[in-house]
Amino acid sequence: MPSIADQLGAVLGDAFASLELPRELGRVSPSKQNPEVFPYQCNGAMPAAKQAKKNPREIAKAVVDAVADNPLIEKVEIAGPGFLNLRPSAEAITLRAAEIAADERAGAAKTETPRKVMIDFGGPNVAKPMHVGHLRSSVLGDSLQRLLRFRGDDVVSDIHLGDWGLQMGHLITELADEQPDLVYFDADVTEGYPSEPPVTIEDLARLYPQASNKAKSDADRLEVSRTATAELQAGRPGYRALLRHFIDVSVAALKRDFGALGVHFDLWKGESDVDPLIPDLVQDFKDRGVAEESDGAWVVRVARDGDKKELAPLILVTSGGASLYGTTDLATILDRKNEVGPDLTLYVVDLAQSDHFEQVFRAASKAGLAAEGALEHVKFGTVNGTDGKRLRTRDGGTFRLADLISSAIERAGERLKEAGLAADASEEERANVARMVGLAAIKFADLQNYRTTNYVFDLDRFTSFEGKTGPYLLYAAVRVKSLMRKADREGVAPDAIVVGTQEETDLVLALDAFGAALEQACENRAPNAICDHAFTLAQSFSKFYAACPILGADDDATKASRLALAQATLKQLELCLHLVGLEAPERM
Ligand code: ARG
Repeated sequence: MPSIADQLGAVLGDAFASLELPRELGRVSPSKQNPEVFPYQCNGAMPAAKQAKKNPREIAKAVVDAVADNPLIEKVEIAGPGFLNLRPSAEAITLRAAEIAADERAGAAKTETPRKVMIDFGGPNVAKPMHVGHLRSSVLGDSLQRLLRFRGDDVVSDIHLGDWGLQMGHLITELADEQPDLVYFDADVTEGYPSEPPVTIEDLARLYPQASNKAKSDADRLEVSRTATAELQAGRPGYRALLRHFIDVSVAALKRDFGALGVHFDLWKGESDVDPLIPDLVQDFKDRGVAEESDGAWVVRVARDGDKKELAPLILVTSGGASLYGTTDLATILDRKNEVGPDLTLYVVDLAQSDHFEQVFRAASKAGLAAEGALEHVKFGTVNGTDGKRLRTRDGGTFRLADLISSAIERAGERLKEAGLAADASEEERANVARMVGLAAIKFADLQNYRTTNYVFDLDRFTSFEGKTGPYLLYAAVRVKSLMRKADREGVAPDAIVVGTQEETDLVLALDAFGAALEQACENRAPNAICDHAFTLAQSFSKFYAACPILGADDDATKASRLALAQATLKQLELCLHLVGLEAPERM
């Protein structure tokens, strides 16, 4: 059964069609003015009047006459120039409530047109510390994969590690300085390398900044790393063996970190994985005239007539013979086409990389690797400090993801103490609740904004149990969980929902809006639609809970009905939390 808004839309659509007007004009949306009396509205009479060259009120009147007796509608009224205000019948609301309560998807339908969607997100670079930009990509990308999967798409996610650039050359040369006798540096040895890695993740975290700092003030040192990078890419066996170790060591650490964050990837591929495809791809681009020679380099010209700003050509191969970021991205598109065959690929990356993706997408389309529109850059803005500038640590460096997360969890622990929550829990349980609250705080604070909005990182605000925050929503879910346990102890079970009071009606209509929120979140690649929905739902529940006694209701049927509403709310709320990567504890 569709949502009430959609059911009403279908009835009105029939009415418009009977007047020989387009069915779509019957579209019904939630109303902001006076929703207590008329929760829905339809504005179709105005465009209809234009088309039919009639008075809009006259059309509205004809629609009202056609629908007035429909059992779905309790009241319909014409307002102003021809707005239709609608109130669904109590039977329609009750019927829909029963359906939402019984539905494992809590009322949100699956898509009728599932696609195969590839999501490229996370994108950390081997050996470089992850910063807050990677956090945003990870949180947003993970929510998008959950949303699209739940909607019914066939989703494959890929972390797309940055493991092919200068950072690898830096690691190699710095390690060579520290341990020159390692077999990997002996140019005469070409096989039989040890299977144990010569470094730990701590070594990598130390070696990279060491080398990169030296290279900043020493051009010769930079050249040494560049040469090592070129030799690595050209296939020098010892360097390739080291690359493998560096990747393995990094991936093990990343799996741990992303696991703790609750973020999952289907594929752990990296830029280096597509290196074998590059020579043929370049040759093919040359042969077909997709790439052109320019000052010794090979480029793909991607500027188009009518461009507002000049888009530089994509450099496929430098004059020195190296492949770049754009080259690996093109080879990755080819690899995914061969291995996965997506209808759509989403790249969840900082909007600072907009030109890069525009170049890559146009080059891919020019080469026939992907259809126009099948590659999409899902852009996001920056995270700022309370000073309004890009988030930095006190010493001016970029924030490390792990530090950011541990400070959120620590602050959540303090908040719990201040609020007297989880007070009787064991130490272990309290730590687990603080972890869930801390993660919820940073994830929700990020996702509740439309993604291109910049926001200020303010842990005090994020971890508050009041206002539109992750902790508030977790607390809301926990409250319902404890109510359900209490009902169980008192032997009250949920049963048939009967909608009587205004608060009950409002709660059912809030529940009914889930499907539309899901659709909007998927269409706009915008989890904030689900955050908004979850917050509205929690507020509606809170009003219902305050106004309608549940276990204290007068008769058993009302107790059972209200408990069923609470249970349905909990199911949908937990589903929403899951879709934005949050997890509610059993108690706090
Ligand atoms: N590693 C890149 C960075 O840190 C992000 C990768 C994004 N994905 C891609 N296919 N280019 O900036």
